[in-house]
Amino acid sequence: MLVSAKEMLNKAKAGHYAVGQFNINNLEWTKAILLAAEETRSPVILGVSEGAGKYMTGYKTVVGMVNGMLDELNISVPVALHLDHGSYEGCYKCIEAGFSSVMFDGSHYPIEENVEKTKELVAVTRGKGMSIEAEVGSIGGEEDGVVGKGECADPEECKAVADLGITMLAAGIGNIHGKYPDNWEGLSFETLDAIQQLTGDMPLVLHGGTGIPDDMIKKAISLGVAKINVNTECQIAFAEATRKYIEEGKDQQGKGFDPRKLLAPGAEAIKDMVITKIKLFGSDGKADE
Ligand code: 13P
Repeated sequence: MLVSAKEMLNKAKAGHYAVGQFNINNLEWTKAILLAAEETRSPVILGVSEGAGKYMTGYKTVVGMVNGMLDELNISVPVALHLDHGSYEGCYKCIEAGFSSVMFDGSHYPIEENVEKTKELVAVTRGKGMSIEAEVGSIGGEEDGVVGKGECADPEECKAVADLGITMLAAGIGNIHGKYPDNWEGLSFETLDAIQQLTGDMPLVLHGGTGIPDDMIKKAISLGVAKINVNTECQIAFAEATRKYIEEGKDQQGKGFDPRKLLAPGAEAIKDMVITKIKLFGSDGKADE
């Protein structure tokens, strides 16, 4: 059964580790991530962007697929199904479809409007036992057509939004989606520290997990990050493994063109990547604590 992300993230914050949110794109992605979490006994969050939700034909399909897999694969670790960078309308669609968590990304609204809409969605999600993530200070880069220039959040605004009763807070600290450019200045730990001082126990979310060096990930966790989002790195791992299979001509040997064979190396690469991240974030073994 899907669970809210509240308990797993509160435990992560208190225990100084982070739970990974891995974005899903299709059946192979979902299965690989669930198997990786089960194998490492880690709680996990499946992230679904609005674009990926549309690609998978809609949120109801996603809910049906994930619930079916939890059952058929006998998944016994806590799993949350979470809308990533949701619009106001998107949040309502996911609440209705049976997601267990949503992110309302109101970072592009003036702060008053972000607060207003977040407040409303907090009340609705709370009534359904769901978790909700809010965002302050846009995350840079481009994801599914959503482009943010990346900025450091104002700690006071973070406090105002954290006080609305949200479950977790995404705050821009110089992180961006996708690959980091060569001239990237790194995460602003000064900003993160200031946010954590003002928001106390609130689990903080680090978007744009792809390409952040391991030492920065560990430092971010030590400063209150309890959820880390990874998307692009799994896509690259999948593409590289699939390209290798085709370049080696394996799709032309025997029944190598069978999609179950063609997509298998990519799925295995996603699983390996997720296991590596789970161990880096320190959430392995935490499903049983
Ligand atoms: P990356 O694609 O950079 O890993 O970011 C993922 C993310 O933050 C999803 O919200």
